[in-house]
Amino acid sequence: MTAMAEAQLAISDLAIHFGGVRALDGASFDIRPGITTGLIGPNGAGKTTLFNCISGLIPGASGQVRFEGRDISRARPEAISRAGLVRSFQLARGCENLTVFEHLMLYGPRQQGENLLKAFIGGRAVREQEEKLRDEALDMAGRLRLTHVLDNLVTRLSGGQKKLLEIGRVLLAKPKMILLDEPMAGVNPTLVQEIADHLEVIRRSGIAIVLIEHEMELIDRLCDEVIVMAAGKFLARGSFSDIQSNRDVQESYLGLRRQ
Ligand SMILES: Nc1ncnc2c1ncn2[C@@H]1O[C@H](COP(=O)(O)OP(=O)(O)OP(=O)(O)O)[C@@H](O)[C@H]1O
Ligand SMILES: [Mg+2]
Repeated sequence: MTAMAEAQLAISDLAIHFGGVRALDGASFDIRPGITTGLIGPNGAGKTTLFNCISGLIPGASGQVRFEGRDISRARPEAISRAGLVRSFQLARGCENLTVFEHLMLYGPRQQGENLLKAFIGGRAVREQEEKLRDEALDMAGRLRLTHVLDNLVTRLSGGQKKLLEIGRVLLAKPKMILLDEPMAGVNPTLVQEIADHLEVIRRSGIAIVLIEHEMELIDRLCDEVIVMAAGKFLARGSFSDIQSNRDVQESYLGLRRQ
């Protein structure tokens, strides 16, 4: 079997410290292709730091990250996202004066279309490309039920709508794998279900998802496999029921779960 068939994302001995805090302390594990992997662990386990290192936001970690067989350990965030590994942010950044539509056009499809746009200077090709991006952005807004707020400023959206918009932006980049850090945190229960439904659609479309989530019902519902981190390291992996019955996990995490 090729490495790709076994691991779409391979994390080897990743370590980084902030002052005296070892946020990642030799984390090693593989993420299998095309499935939804839950990443859980107690507060401070290093989950968000792991995402930041994988996506190139925090340089300077030791160890290696390979995506689809390619070493991305020292790649820039844009290059990683162009390779198909795209992460969400807690809040859309730098978009204070943009409408929802502008945000989808600027941060979504154009990331993918930029090279194409540069390749054709002026003329019909650019117009056609622009129209395609526009159609994709409108279609995405429809799928996420954001059409009625397309002309609203992003800052006017509810917390849940911002999360939906962020998922839209990530999907418009045509990812092969998406990294979602608590995409349902602080969202009202109706929208939590709506976001969960979207994640199921994404999962069925074959895009791999790595989902950091504290709510165990959602992990159980959405994830094919669960990886547990504790103290900057890999602790355990398996189905949700394997994880629930794992003594190490019970001691390090489930027993100490935040309310
Ligand atoms: N920029 C930073 N500067 C200093 N310490 C940091 C920084 N980022 C993370 N840490 C520390 O690294 C450790 C891991 O933090 P991280 O945010 O990755 O945990 P987490 O698993 O995402 O936790 P949570 O479930 O609460 O989101 C924590 O002790 C945190 O305080
Ligand atoms: Mg976190």
